[in-house]
Amino acid sequence: MDKKVTVIGAGNVGATTAQRLAEKELCDVVLIDIADGMPQGKALDLLEAAPIEKHDASIRGANTYEASAGSDIIIITAGIPRKPGMSRDDLIKTNMNIMKNVTAEAAEQSPNAIIIIVSNPLDAMCHVAYDASGFSKNRVIGMAGVLDSARFRAFISMELDVSVENTHAFVLGGHGDTMVPLPRYSTVAGIPITELMSAERIEALVDRTRKGGGEIVSLLKTGSAFYAPSSAAVEMAEAILKDKKKILPCAAYLEGEYGINGLFIGVPVKLGANGIEDIIQIKLTDSENAALQKSADAVTGLVEDLKKLA
Ligand code: NAI
Ligand code: 2OP
Repeated sequence: MDKKVTVIGAGNVGATTAQRLAEKELCDVVLIDIADGMPQGKALDLLEAAPIEKHDASIRGANTYEASAGSDIIIITAGIPRKPGMSRDDLIKTNMNIMKNVTAEAAEQSPNAIIIIVSNPLDAMCHVAYDASGFSKNRVIGMAGVLDSARFRAFISMELDVSVENTHAFVLGGHGDTMVPLPRYSTVAGIPITELMSAERIEALVDRTRKGGGEIVSLLKTGSAFYAPSSAAVEMAEAILKDKKKILPCAAYLEGEYGINGLFIGVPVKLGANGIEDIIQIKLTDSENAALQKSADAVTGLVEDLKKLA
């Protein structure tokens, strides 16, 4: 393949991301993890599926970063996942140190790459990766809004018994309980869901979306979601690798947009070969804007915690 993506963390999200990238023939993949032999084993296993899955992507596993040199995209999933009863914010200290180290190592090998962050707490980890990489803000992007919006879309599709392909949704804000699903901008075949469902049903779907990560954790009991998260990360990577100029909700570093300054938070962005090529400012009502500002306050609190821990 003429593109190369490194996935750091070969656990549930990382390995599934590698699988999806290879099976879509988007790029060659390097899978890195600290666990001895594990990324090599998963990479080999994925490669041995290639004749059946009919792809020619190369997949290599490694415990060090030389193999990642010259990557177009680095997807960071390294960290510890949320366990039942654990909030995303509990993860902050452990994952901050992991994020700092892996970003610095990967950025040194691939100084022109675009980084997609997956590890939680997502918005705070974007700040760590931004600082540790020294990359420009358009090349550091957090994955959360695509996942949260996909969950909202799945719930809308089930509620109205329509194809998921007809659904569109926007979930903005931080990747936490304060996230901001926007029913007015969520549609079925272009029709806002506010015209298709009662306010009570919309609120129920919004609530389920906000708690979507926790719902999976409580079912799995030993980890968190990975099928939909890996799909979301790969949709973002594909938009960049193919220079699609796709509008997706992603965590981006804001400098005044939406009245927010110096903070990573989920907003609609245009993704293309240069990473974030534009931040789309949609009109929000007073209550939508208040919800976004409340979410920004929650992320700011996490970033303050990071500063205290650093
Ligand atoms: P996992 O435990 O299956 O995999 C994490 C992997 O990271 C492990 O294999 C571990 O060995 C590796 N790792 C730890 N320290 C490392 C280091 N210093 N260098 C390289 N690898 C290292 O966890 P899972 O389910 O894959 O989740 C990964 C992260 O993604 C978690 O923080 C989780 O909370 C987050 N996540 C975020 C989502 C989002 O919407 N942004 C959605 C789903 C998960
Ligand atoms: C999720 O939303 C755990 O953040 C992860 O599934």
